Amino acid sequence: LGWLGYRTRVFNVGSYRRERLGAHHREDFFAPANDSGRRAREELADAALDDLMDWMRVGGEVGIYDATNTTRARRLRVRSRLEQAGIRVVFIESVCDDPTIIDANIRATKLVGPDYAGMDASAALADFHARVRHYAAVYEPMGVGETSYIKVIDAGRRIEMDGVRGYLPGKILFFLANSHADRRSILLSRHGESAFNLEERIGGNPGLSGQGKRYADALAQFVRWRFGPTRDVEVFTSTLRRTQETAVGLPWPATAWRALDEIDAGICDSRTYAEIAAALPDEYDARQADKFHYRYPGGESYRDVIGRVEPVILEIERQRRPVLVIAHQAIVRVLYAYFRELPAEDCPYLPVPLHTVIELRQMAAGLEEERHPLVGDHADDGP
Ligand code: SIN
Repeated sequence: LGWLGYRTRVFNVGSYRRERLGAHHREDFFAPANDSGRRAREELADAALDDLMDWMRVGGEVGIYDATNTTRARRLRVRSRLEQAGIRVVFIESVCDDPTIIDANIRATKLVGPDYAGMDASAALADFHARVRHYAAVYEPMGVGETSYIKVIDAGRRIEMDGVRGYLPGKILFFLANSHADRRSILLSRHGESAFNLEERIGGNPGLSGQGKRYADALAQFVRWRFGPTRDVEVFTSTLRRTQETAVGLPWPATAWRALDEIDAGICDSRTYAEIAAALPDEYDARQADKFHYRYPGGESYRDVIGRVEPVILEIERQRRPVLVIAHQAIVRVLYAYFRELPAEDCPYLPVPLHTVIELRQMAAGLEEERHPLVGDHADDGP
């Protein structure tokens, strides 16, 4: 949401507890019969909600209130406070009864988190399971008499919803329906060096240079080695020759997306930067001054590109197998910024060299990145 330009912030009640009271609480703090624990937890939940509401008042657009909200009474309180302040509410409940998923999630996220730092893994696991039992003892499923909710069941295997209307809630629903918790790799690559790269021209629809073709061969070998000969890999290219020629040696079919075509340089297409500076100095200077918002006359800005690659992002999110995207400099920058959760305005300046595969591995604790330079080294700065 933040990447699409909505001012979005997460208010996590667990973080408020750790910041205000320390990270030492064990399961008994969360027991429903522990009155002082319950009062402390309610105060923390209110403090996070107060901050969310203050932030919405000063221009926040999507506040994510990340809390257990296990009882109907608690949800009613949250809803009525927010609605009285004119803030629309959609609850998102993650429901999971699958012990394997629960166990894997606790191991991957809780045992390595601040609550259990330095604690023996089996004691930490037992403590968190006990905390879950305390939540379960008072849990009232979302639904009866409640509306505007999305339930994500078993990490995305099924979605249930009620009262979710409007553009943004619909978008959130669509995103949740297409996401999952499986770990897999996303490989991002620019096309191999093109005939235009050699002349330092931007845009156009050139084919690959000799060195670019060597990269295409090296890429095919690398991806086969990386995933093994039997693993299916989803391959996306743009509709332009240089990305399709880069995919030519791969053993899997590639899907060509117009949404992955290079930023449209409009009247500057097929020129060199030196030619643009000489023939259209005002355009050149305007782009240097604000590369993110600058729109080529008759073409696009980085901001425009962000809007148009969104369907491909959803398609990548949806895939459970490894994905290889072969695209162009501006496009790879935009995809990279999305997955690394970088500010959109940084896109035009992110280093994305030719002939280098950027591997992003989705791990429970976050994203791991590895860069694989395959042939030659290029530090050019294209669109
Ligand atoms: C926590 O303290 O870790 C969770 C509190 C909550 O979400 O209600």
